[in-house]
Amino acid sequence: MKSTLCLLFVLIVSVFATAPETFDVVFQTSQGDFVLSLNRTWSPNGVDHLFDLVTAQYYDINYFFRVIQSPTPFVAQWGINGNPSVSQKWNITIPDDPVVVSNTVGTVAYAAEMNGNTACCRTTQLFINYGDNSFLDKSGFAPIGVITQGFSNTMKFFSGYGENPDQTLIYEQGNSYLEANFPKLDYISTARISPDFFIVTFQSSAGPFDITVNRTWAPNSADRFYELIQAGYYDSNYVYKVIDTPIPFIAQWGINGDPKITAQWNTSIENDPLVVSNTIATVAFAGDIVNNKVINRNTQIFINYRSNPQLDQYGYAPFGFISYALTNTYSFYNQYGNSPSEQLYIQYGNEFIEENYPKLDYIKGAAIQN
Ligand SMILES: *[C@@H]1O[C@H](CO)[C@@H](O)[C@H](O)[C@H]1NC(C)=O
Ligand SMILES: *[C@@H]1O[C@H](CO)[C@@H](O)[C@H](O)[C@H]1NC(C)=O
Ligand SMILES: *[C@@H]1O[C@H](CO)[C@@H](O)[C@H](O)[C@H]1NC(C)=O
Ligand SMILES: *[C@@H]1O[C@H](CO)[C@@H](O)[C@H](O)[C@H]1NC(C)=O
Repeated sequence: MKSTLCLLFVLIVSVFATAPETFDVVFQTSQGDFVLSLNRTWSPNGVDHLFDLVTAQYYDINYFFRVIQSPTPFVAQWGINGNPSVSQKWNITIPDDPVVVSNTVGTVAYAAEMNGNTACCRTTQLFINYGDNSFLDKSGFAPIGVITQGFSNTMKFFSGYGENPDQTLIYEQGNSYLEANFPKLDYISTARISPDFFIVTFQSSAGPFDITVNRTWAPNSADRFYELIQAGYYDSNYVYKVIDTPIPFIAQWGINGDPKITAQWNTSIENDPLVVSNTIATVAFAGDIVNNKVINRNTQIFINYRSNPQLDQYGYAPFGFISYALTNTYSFYNQYGNSPSEQLYIQYGNEFIEENYPKLDYIKGAAIQN
């Protein structure tokens, strides 16, 4: 009997894949995105399991059913799939991990049942620590990662229902129970592993070109770029700033034709370290310079038409490079130079460009290659 149990244990454990040592997961939510950075040394069993869950798209359309903000910010919890047969299938208890880092603000750990004073039986539910909850450490809640972008979005999750949503009923009835009784709950639309390397093919009025992204160069930029491409944000954007005189400098775009959409994406990405220089053909996010540092990096990007090492000092961190047909980008219409007003373009969208700068080239569309 004992050996049978032992064998069973080995079989169950062996279905878990081993995750990369570190990786990010991008969560798209009803309050905007957040990025969870995982580090396997913090919680190897927990991180491996999360990797499997995200790969299986388990967290898509999961509600934040337990959001506790008062008397002091405590946690936001999720992780029961909307389909009861799916949550049943994933009712697999993973082995415990030692607590390596503390439950400080922004860290994420598995929720668990209490077995006396000790957390046990972690399956799929996770929580964000809204406050410093290091008192949870002694009970064995081992953080698996930390939110590195968009924590403020998570603080907006609707908290008015407190502890009312009944977990047993969510397991039994799925999302229909929550939607009927707690319609204001926020939710995850998708959760995806952030890719380290990808190629984006652009179609433009000056011909096609590719941007190859290497996430290790500038992870925050690479993640935002990926989301923008997936959202179709760059479709029909004019390449409105093409500076080619006195010597070739840059070509820039990233203001949406619809001012409402531009405004929707007006959240700055955090700084990236400068891993590679602004050499010819590299691509970086544009932004405003304040106190000699770039800020307000959100959607606009530029191609370096030549090596521009003078830009490095401001923190313009290239996240990729034109890997195909740079020459097509050299033929973007450049006679308007710096004159198209960025503010008016943001405010009035493509109408402003079409009335005043009709010769500008534009992006037709962009897609990620597999
Ligand atoms: C992962 O966590 C360990 C232990 O806290 C730390 O030493 C290491 O630098 C972390 N790795 C990354 C890539 O952050
Ligand atoms: C998960 O499985 C355990 C053990 O079989 C069971 O006690 C528990 O009720 C199940 N949980 C859910 C939510 O189905
Ligand atoms: C990404 O960039 C890093 C750092 O420059 C480099 O070591 C790595 O080889 C690059 N990856 C690919 C797939 O080119
Ligand atoms: C973003 O918002 C700031 C502050 O409200 C504003 O000054 C800026 O023009 C906006 N940028 C875009 C691209 O909408």
